[in-house]
Amino acid sequence: MPPETPAPSVDRITIRKPDDWHLHVRDGAMLKASLPFTARNFGRAIIMPNLLPPVTTVKEAIAYRERIYDALHQALPEGSTFQPMMTCYLHDMTDPDEVEAGFRDGVFTAVKLYPANATTNSAAGVTDYRKIRPVMARMEKIGIPLLMHGEEVDPEVDVFDREAVWIERRLQPWTKDFPGLKFVLEHISSKIAVDYIRSAAPQVGATITPYHLTHNRTDWLGWGNRPYLYCMPVIKTEADRRALVEAATSGDKCFFLGTDSAPHPVERKLAVVGSAGLFNAPVAIEQYTKVFEQAGALNKLEGFTSLNGPLHYGLPANAESITLERSTWTAPEEIKIDGPDGRALVYRGGEQIEWRVADSVG
Ligand code: NCD
Ligand code: ZN
Repeated sequence: MPPETPAPSVDRITIRKPDDWHLHVRDGAMLKASLPFTARNFGRAIIMPNLLPPVTTVKEAIAYRERIYDALHQALPEGSTFQPMMTCYLHDMTDPDEVEAGFRDGVFTAVKLYPANATTNSAAGVTDYRKIRPVMARMEKIGIPLLMHGEEVDPEVDVFDREAVWIERRLQPWTKDFPGLKFVLEHISSKIAVDYIRSAAPQVGATITPYHLTHNRTDWLGWGNRPYLYCMPVIKTEADRRALVEAATSGDKCFFLGTDSAPHPVERKLAVVGSAGLFNAPVAIEQYTKVFEQAGALNKLEGFTSLNGPLHYGLPANAESITLERSTWTAPEEIKIDGPDGRALVYRGGEQIEWRVADSVG
């Protein structure tokens, strides 16, 4: 085989406008404060439904979408082309007709499965997997994807093995039982997941976060406990991180961008029992760019950020583009939240960020 041409070192790169296939923008004051960071650089985002109470009906999703558009217009009065894509929070009693109505009306883009108590605001999630089979059968029939927080919460299963056990116990059998159903395993965190996704593509795709690409568990726990690296699924070993970087930068179409940006008020992040989730939207596209640059794979960035996700969902890629340039700037340490929540700290806040969005067209 001829040697691969090394990717040239570049200082500027223009890519189709990215989409975020996994985003938490919350509600109220937190929504207003966090959404603009995503709307600035992304064309669309899959909006996670884990509010309190969760978004389980078409009516609730329409109302939430309105609140998102209101926040958008307040923050960017000059106009924005950003589009939220709404999801339906799956639970034991979800009515297949509700999912179908929401999909047909263009309200639901996907259905999201949280195992009960797996992560932030998942208490109302699924407890009995037999009960959701009729919904899954209907989803297969109408063609709406199932997004999963894929972690087995059986107390017998070690927290570092939750993802692997989920794949073995749940996802693998489901792909056989529902061969026409499209799945997304969200925020994959392990080499086992990378290998599995490759074997199950194109039926199954996966999102990868900037922090699972950047950190290992020694960064999180090895030199003091860093609560700001605590998220679900928990950050794993260096071998896992390397497998994720290899997957994201490989060009394989089954892997795509999902930041899992998830702001929390600082008090809750730093509480005795702290909340899982990192707020990375202010630096997300820049951090992905850094990861791809370090892997010598800037030529694969656009596929991961802007093409593979739409392909998996059967949607067109964005027509607009953004340009990133190598130029340092300092990330804000925190964002202010109106009201009692006060503030939320930013992932890589206060650090020098290596890439900057120079231009966002459209
Ligand atoms: C997310 C959140 O805070 O809503 N937290 C996280 O640790 N990733 C929920 C989720 O996606 O699991
Ligand atoms: Zn999740």
